Amino acid sequence: MPERLTETLMDLWTPLIILWITLPSCVYTAPMNQAHVLTTGSPLELSRQSEDMRILSRSKRGWVWNQMFVLEEFSGPEPILVGRLHTDLDPGSKKIKYILSGDGAGTIFQINDITGDIHAIKRLDREEKAEYTLTAQAVDFETNKPLEPPSEFIIKVQDINDNAPEFLNGPYHATVPEMSILGTSVTNVTATDADDPVYGNSAKLVYSILEGQPYFSIEPETAIIKTALPNMDREAKEEYLVVIQAKDMGGHSGGLSGTTTLTVTLTDVNDNPPKFAQSLYHFSVPEDVVLGTAIGRVKANDQDIGENAQSSYDIIDGDGTALFEITSDAQAQDGVIRLRKPLDFETKKSYTLKVEAANIHIDPRFSSRGPFKDTATVKIVVEDADEPPVFSSPTYLLEVHENAALNSVIGQVTARDPDITSSPIRFSIDRHTDLERQFNINADDGKITLATPLDRELSVWHNITIIATEIRNHSQISRVPVAIKVLDVNDNAPEFASEYEAFLCENGKPGQVIQTVSAMDKDDPKNGHFFLYSLLPEMVNNPNFTIKKNEDNSLSILAKHNGFNRQKQEVYLLPIVISDSGNPPLSSTSTLTIRVCGCSNDGVVQSCNVEAYVLPIGLSMGALIAILACIILLLVIVVLFVTLRRHKNEPLIIKDDEDVRENIIRYDDEGGGEEDTEAFDIATLQNPDGINGFLPHYQRGFLRGIPENAA
Ligand SMILES: *[C@@H]1O[C@H](CO)[C@@H](O)[C@H](O)[C@H]1NC(C)=O
Ligand SMILES: *[C@@H]1O[C@H](CO)[C@@H](O)[C@H](O)[C@H]1NC(C)=O
Repeated sequence: MPERLTETLMDLWTPLIILWITLPSCVYTAPMNQAHVLTTGSPLELSRQSEDMRILSRSKRGWVWNQMFVLEEFSGPEPILVGRLHTDLDPGSKKIKYILSGDGAGTIFQINDITGDIHAIKRLDREEKAEYTLTAQAVDFETNKPLEPPSEFIIKVQDINDNAPEFLNGPYHATVPEMSILGTSVTNVTATDADDPVYGNSAKLVYSILEGQPYFSIEPETAIIKTALPNMDREAKEEYLVVIQAKDMGGHSGGLSGTTTLTVTLTDVNDNPPKFAQSLYHFSVPEDVVLGTAIGRVKANDQDIGENAQSSYDIIDGDGTALFEITSDAQAQDGVIRLRKPLDFETKKSYTLKVEAANIHIDPRFSSRGPFKDTATVKIVVEDADEPPVFSSPTYLLEVHENAALNSVIGQVTARDPDITSSPIRFSIDRHTDLERQFNINADDGKITLATPLDRELSVWHNITIIATEIRNHSQISRVPVAIKVLDVNDNAPEFASEYEAFLCENGKPGQVIQTVSAMDKDDPKNGHFFLYSLLPEMVNNPNFTIKKNEDNSLSILAKHNGFNRQKQEVYLLPIVISDSGNPPLSSTSTLTIRVCGCSNDGVVQSCNVEAYVLPIGLSMGALIAILACIILLLVIVVLFVTLRRHKNEPLIIKDDEDVRENIIRYDDEGGGEEDTEAFDIATLQNPDGINGFLPHYQRGFLRGIPENAA
């Protein structure tokens, strides 16, 4: 660029100013070959500058200007000469003075106003500020009048390799699967160099590995890190530390370098099969252990991790495959052997199982290495346990007819002690289940007998529990439910289903149905009875009524004639014999009462002059007579009593006046009231001489008796 710009400017302007840059005695000189630039001046285009410049419109531009270069980081005893301004204006008699303004004029850059030499008076840092824009002008030394328009130029700070490469994002971490092929890309890293990337090699970086060989390599230009060994094994070494260096100057000596670390972790692949820690496991288990109980654990180790270490466990062979199962515990990565079916020490005392652990997630790349599974043998010893008695059946169902005789055997339960030391068993009934003590059991042989009579119509089921106890160990107890069903026998006779009341119309027609009755029977079948109805043998030829069985098992009673008359007979009693279909059949006689009633023409009962209405009146009249008779009888007794006392007990009763008075009062009280009228009359009849106008009969009797006593 600078060269091209130079050419352009040279085309435009005629050379007026020679601007040259003195090269300091610097170690680094190469760039300076292009650095000093001579440019040609050209007529100033004042119109593009400023109004003030118009007076100089005829003047030719006197500056050869361009850019100057100055090396950064220069620190010598003297200020470094950056360049010199010069104009070839004909100054005539005038002396020319150079003025510098702009970025750092006077502070960083100083100009000798006579010679035009520009010095950098401070140390410069390209990475801090790469270029300065300054303005130069030639003025009359005395008048300070501009001799030509100001010109802008740039001082570029030239790079030296003063910055080392840096890994800004380090330290790095990366992963690569174990067992990767050689040259598998792991990651790439990047270093940066603050030096000028377009100028020289100060920022040209080359990467290399300082540590981490021979496992990893790095591409010098791209910094892509790759595996340098095939089949690195995570199980052997999982983590690698790689030290990477970036060096500028294209890696040549003298360049600056920076380093970083990269930690490479190998990730797991399933390259290891499971392996049982033991080839033989021994477990023992009591025979009475609850189903589902864990009996033991087997574990196949796997050097891999995560899902690559996961195995499923199976029982693949052995004589206990039906009794035991194995489940895989993903958490503990082992296999749990559990009991599936009850054990019996007395039947079989040990089992052998062949268990297998197989990886779940197989990597096909490694399946050729052999099966990713392992097997082990498990021996399980069954231990004896004292077990309770065992009934011959888990439940019993017994049936007994309801008319079974007391003490008859209904059924039998049996039980045995499963242990080798077979203990005798005793049976009993759990009385909570037989509160009525309906049954007994023979403690030795388990025979159940009937203790109290049964009635199916009261209770069909008697569900009891029988207890079996080992004689040698009373804590070994078993229970069994026994359902006793009472079977029906025909022990109930049929009878009328309800209380029927039949009415017969005086004006009814012969053959008319007076009443329909139905029957019921408590015995089975509940709804399926077939009843037989009949009249008593002596009534079979009853002139007044007849019966007719209906389809639905009911019975209709029909009048035989129309000659019924309330005056003649108000009530008829018709006994009916009902038999059931039992074996043997049972029968009973129920009597139907038929009342003769007066009815309307269309057969509606209007009045029944039946005994039911007459009877209460008749009874009450009879009762009335009886009550009256009783009253008369009572009165007679009272009178007799009084008369007897008067004749025999009077002297004993009358002791003093007080007693007399009390007696008087007492008699007076008792004697008051309406009913005494009759008694009075009777007494009067018996004591005609005691009549005295106003005194009550009893009082007078006593008063009169006193003188007799006194006499
Ligand atoms: C008794 O047991 C039998 C048979 O298990 C059952 O059908 C019946 O409902 C039970 N009766 C009672 C009252 O529990
Ligand atoms: C039939 O009815 C007549 C009166 O109507 C009576 O005298 C006779 O005793 C009745 N017969 C029977 C068997 O009830």
